[in-house]
Amino acid sequence: MALAFQDYALLDDDDCDARIVAAKAALGSRLVILGHHYQRDEVFKHADFVGDSLKLSRNAAASDAEYIVFCGVHFMAEVADILSRPEQIAILPDLAAGCSMADMANLIKVRQCWQELGQIIDVDNAVTPITYINSAADLKAFCGEHEGIVCTSSNAQKILEWSFAQREKVLFFPDQHLGRNTGYRMGIPMAEMVTWDFTKPMGGLTETQIRDAKIILWNGHCSVHQAFKPEQIDDFLVRYPETQVIAHPEACFEVCEKADFVGSTEYILKTIREAEANSRWLVATELNLVNRLHEECKADGKNVHFMSPTLCMCSTMFRTDPQHLAWILDNLVAGDVVNKITVAPQQAQLAKKALDAMLAIN
Ligand code: 13P
Ligand code: SF4
Repeated sequence: MALAFQDYALLDDDDCDARIVAAKAALGSRLVILGHHYQRDEVFKHADFVGDSLKLSRNAAASDAEYIVFCGVHFMAEVADILSRPEQIAILPDLAAGCSMADMANLIKVRQCWQELGQIIDVDNAVTPITYINSAADLKAFCGEHEGIVCTSSNAQKILEWSFAQREKVLFFPDQHLGRNTGYRMGIPMAEMVTWDFTKPMGGLTETQIRDAKIILWNGHCSVHQAFKPEQIDDFLVRYPETQVIAHPEACFEVCEKADFVGSTEYILKTIREAEANSRWLVATELNLVNRLHEECKADGKNVHFMSPTLCMCSTMFRTDPQHLAWILDNLVAGDVVNKITVAPQQAQLAKKALDAMLAIN
């Protein structure tokens, strides 16, 4: 019988550490642990590969390991299951580690949107659906079914360019900010990027707005990145005018417009790591990444600051703790798989089509 999580919940972190190290040694090359940049330190340090969503999806696709343990959130483990071979097993240490942004779009509402758009335009010939990788597998399958594609925060511009080469319009979900910020940087006028309010008939848009739009943006957002405000940049620059500002494209338009640099978590890390010694940075992305970068860059005299004065971490990323990691690994050593993530085969096939289209572009 599988070991129960309740026997791990009260273990202290050092005890969990020792168990994780021992289990990794016992499982050897049968196991790979992937860790997203937003994971807390106590978990992050055990990852074999760390990265942003794009890098980790490539790691998952390239892995030969029998067990792919994803220290991230649910949609990432789904991607690992979809891209890995059938005999490989994707595991999410805590099944409650979801993504609130991914939950803002669901298949029923996206289908309804597609059908309503179809009353005004020839959707199949005029619209390419793009789903941000932060979405459930059935939405990736929807994109596969409709000759669409997946994007991440590091390839959104290339994916939009590819999409406009296929068809004249894009339906972009679930994150309005990534779509808008990327479209704006490509020179698409704001008036041609409309927001589909999924709570209203016809998205709350007029027929003319839909006909004239180049990008139809789903009105989802990330609750973590939504907390960054342009006033926080203004206030900081009054105190430290030499500061360079860098933001994740999930932050709102006004923050990204004021930022000197905009890019994925991997891009943020690279830019600050390669920056001049003694430079000062204000960063709009998740707290664990920023704290780690601050510690890493201190030696060069770099100052890395978190943009929001109020605490702002991704609470679902935080759910993966050493206790859950130790629990699932000890079970694997004992020959039991817990928290396996499985995408239904037909859905996985269509979702893989949309993911492979993305991976072929980079
Ligand atoms: P990236 O790591 O791809 O930049 O994405 C950030 C994110 O929100 C993951 O959920
Ligand atoms: Fe989702 Fe935002 Fe957390 Fe990323 S930071 S996993 S988008 S809730």
